[in-house]
Amino acid sequence: MLTSGAREKVEKLIACHPKKEAALLRVLHIVQQDQGYLSPETIASVADLMGMPAIKLYEVATFYTLYNKKPVGKYLIQVCANLSCSLMGADNLIRYLKDRLGVQVGETTPDNKFTLVTVQCLGSCGTAPMMQINDQYYEKLDEARIEQILASL
Ligand code: FES
Repeated sequence: MLTSGAREKVEKLIACHPKKEAALLRVLHIVQQDQGYLSPETIASVADLMGMPAIKLYEVATFYTLYNKKPVGKYLIQVCANLSCSLMGADNLIRYLKDRLGVQVGETTPDNKFTLVTVQCLGSCGTAPMMQINDQYYEKLDEARIEQILASL
């Protein structure tokens, strides 16, 4: 169930768009910010709010990797595994993070603090290897820098 603040934002956004589909990406973003992920129940509820079939929302939510379809930890670590980052050592950093956090890619630590995933290019190839944690980019990474970052969280 959406918080009243999120529901209000969604309703305002829908009202601004003659075609509700045009608001869908932003609506899902608001819902994810509110709930942390897009559960089937939440998608059904938002679909009702938008007057659209839930399958339309699923189609969009499952196409884009930026939408979480299952719960994630407090810090969502998204390591770029695309070409530039791979050439600059992303595979080693992913291995380091897996060992350091004790999880596989796609898993969350038992304390729900960190979720580790790999993603495609985040548009920061010039500062590879890089990762995004929640909304912040961390670039030119190495193991020592990752250790600093994790310690700061
Ligand atoms: S390949 Fe990693 S940011 Fe582009």
